[in-house]
Amino acid sequence: MVPKKAVLLSNSFLSYTIFFFLIFFFLEVTVIHGKPHQFSRVLSPASLGLKEGKLTQLQVYWHDIVSGSNPSAIRVAAAPQTNTSPTGFGALMMIDDPLTEGPEMSSKLVGRAQGFYSSASQSEVGLLMAMNFAFTDGKYNGSTITILGRNTVFSKEREMPVIGGSGLFRFARGFAKVKTHKFDAATGDATTEYNIHVYHY
Ligand SMILES: *[C@@H]1O[C@H](CO)[C@@H](O)[C@H](O)[C@H]1NC(C)=O
Repeated sequence: MVPKKAVLLSNSFLSYTIFFFLIFFFLEVTVIHGKPHQFSRVLSPASLGLKEGKLTQLQVYWHDIVSGSNPSAIRVAAAPQTNTSPTGFGALMMIDDPLTEGPEMSSKLVGRAQGFYSSASQSEVGLLMAMNFAFTDGKYNGSTITILGRNTVFSKEREMPVIGGSGLFRFARGFAKVKTHKFDAATGDATTEYNIHVYHY
């Protein structure tokens, strides 16, 4: 027969064991596994090889070819009201437009403007443009800049923000001054001058 005192002792030994087990269990869960996940950390720009920022100017000509059998801009969507809207409100054009060094299509190809523009104004021809300038020439081959902005195409000069970039244009920010160089009303084809100032590393 087990003495009463021994039963008490073993009972309290058991509860202490459970107590410490629970303490350890919660400590383990909260302290060891429950430490905050590190999804962010502060780095110095040098750790990414970033030195001085620089300002680059780019001047290219953007060719929007909507006519012919091989257009570089195609309408992919419209609203039922688009065709009767004086501003073409609701039309969405997907583009893969050549970018050249000079105003002529025959001048050197330096990249392509890929993205879309859409008619976003009911009171004037005002486009929302979202495109990547993907460069294919020289040291910028493989690098891109992203332009997202408003283009009122019948204004003499428009300005759109450069909101980012890749490759040599990482961390890009800047602006593009845009002027129509040539517009053929019969075909709808347009050549536009892009004068871009971009700050990057
Ligand atoms: C640009 O880069 C691509 C891929 O690396 C290469 O195939 C092409 O020849 C390059 N073009 C120029 C003009 O350097």
